Amino acid sequence: AVPTPQWRPVYHFTPPKNWTNDPNGLIYLDGVYHLYYQHNPYENKWGHMSWGHATSKDLLHWKHLPVAIPEIVTKDTTTWIFSGSAVLDQHNTSGFGKNGKAPLVAIYTADQPKQKKESQFIAYSNDGGLTYTNYPGNPVVDLNKKDFRDPSVIWLEDQQQWLMTVALPAAHKIQFYSSADLKEWKLLSEFGDQGDTRKIWECPSLTPIFVDGDTTRKKWLLMISSGNPDAATGMQYFVGDFDGKTFTNDHPPGHKMFVDYGRTFYAAIPYNNLPGNRQTMLGWLMPFETPTWPWRGQMSIARDLLLKSTPEGVRLFQQPSEVLYAVLEKLPAARKMQKENVTLRGELPLGGAKQFHNNAWWIEAELTPGTAETTGFKIARQMSGNKVVAETVVGYHSQRGELVIAQVKDGKGTGEPERVPVKPVNGKLKLQVLLDKSSLEVFVNGGEKVITTLIFPEKGATGLAAFAENGEAKLDRLKAWDLGK
Ligand code: FRU
Repeated sequence: AVPTPQWRPVYHFTPPKNWTNDPNGLIYLDGVYHLYYQHNPYENKWGHMSWGHATSKDLLHWKHLPVAIPEIVTKDTTTWIFSGSAVLDQHNTSGFGKNGKAPLVAIYTADQPKQKKESQFIAYSNDGGLTYTNYPGNPVVDLNKKDFRDPSVIWLEDQQQWLMTVALPAAHKIQFYSSADLKEWKLLSEFGDQGDTRKIWECPSLTPIFVDGDTTRKKWLLMISSGNPDAATGMQYFVGDFDGKTFTNDHPPGHKMFVDYGRTFYAAIPYNNLPGNRQTMLGWLMPFETPTWPWRGQMSIARDLLLKSTPEGVRLFQQPSEVLYAVLEKLPAARKMQKENVTLRGELPLGGAKQFHNNAWWIEAELTPGTAETTGFKIARQMSGNKVVAETVVGYHSQRGELVIAQVKDGKGTGEPERVPVKPVNGKLKLQVLLDKSSLEVFVNGGEKVITTLIFPEKGATGLAAFAENGEAKLDRLKAWDLGK
């Protein structure tokens, strides 16, 4: 294998080495964000599924810790530790607490390939989440099924009980269970066969969020990872009400809404135990075909989840977590760039000789598309003399009303461009473009739409420009940070 340091993100999480997929057990404890993740500790490909572990104080810099829950191998059974969640059992409902200290409890899917079986297991930690002990009474939920996975558990304050949201992937069904002690679970209701049912359903989560931040208007966000055939993969969401038993969709069953319009964002789950009313998620960016080494897979930027009223109904908006902006604001002046009221006709190169030439930057821009046919940014540009050899174009197409990400080589598109329908608001388009070596996340209009993809530029392909083609646009405002090494 060939090492690929040029594709190792600097401000997104990657394991030091080997494979990762889904984030698991996201929980905030005493000022620390814990991230567990689907991990193969031995190889740079899927297998030996275990929960890897890392922590962060700012959601940007991660400290790597030993595997927290390893696969369980006995003479006749291999148990893989599939996706799930972690909770702080504040009232020691489980009885796993020790010396008056609340235990952490992980609720995960035990996948037993030999038995072709998935059931829900629990494990507890008395050392702050470093190590876990499997509960001898496992499984705690078992339907004797091959596909039954990804429990997401939250504490329901009103009902004073635990709620588990878990998927029956092939049936396009979600089940809700409740429990008083995390051990005995009772089926509450099912939700399914709505929205996008063209691919299996995985990694569900149900999250209460105050609409427009108004604490008298609580709605429930149900997110499900499910292939979106319009892109190669995807996550969908539903908004509705939850009465402690049943989820009621705000929209008719056929209505579809997507979390992210790119090919790579998947298996995202929210953090548990966050202070205040904030809800924040991490997603996995699927690595596709391109081999990175010695690691594979990365997490998205932490995204705050917002529900906003729109004329069409309540919609999900996502923003890079507000926690991250505190870190950006502390960066030295040399790592910041600011522009205002620049007319765009053709290209405007951005950045200096060193700054913003490392493919690890974060741009926030407000553009007036004006008469331009296309406007936006050309990034990860590779030059040969003064000829452009390759680049990725993040462009708004006025006529189509779409934000398009197109990877271009020798003047030709490589692969299908990724696109999302968007509209300027009062003539202006807001773009937050986060490029981190191989990951590219674009938030449009304050996160009304998000599109995430992976790019694998050649070494030295680091050029950056704003542009307007066939007409004139205006760069009303640009603020950018260089996070590169
Ligand atoms: C989603 C998923 C989950 C499962 C895990 C196994 O990517 O398939 O449904 O728990 O990955 O690694």
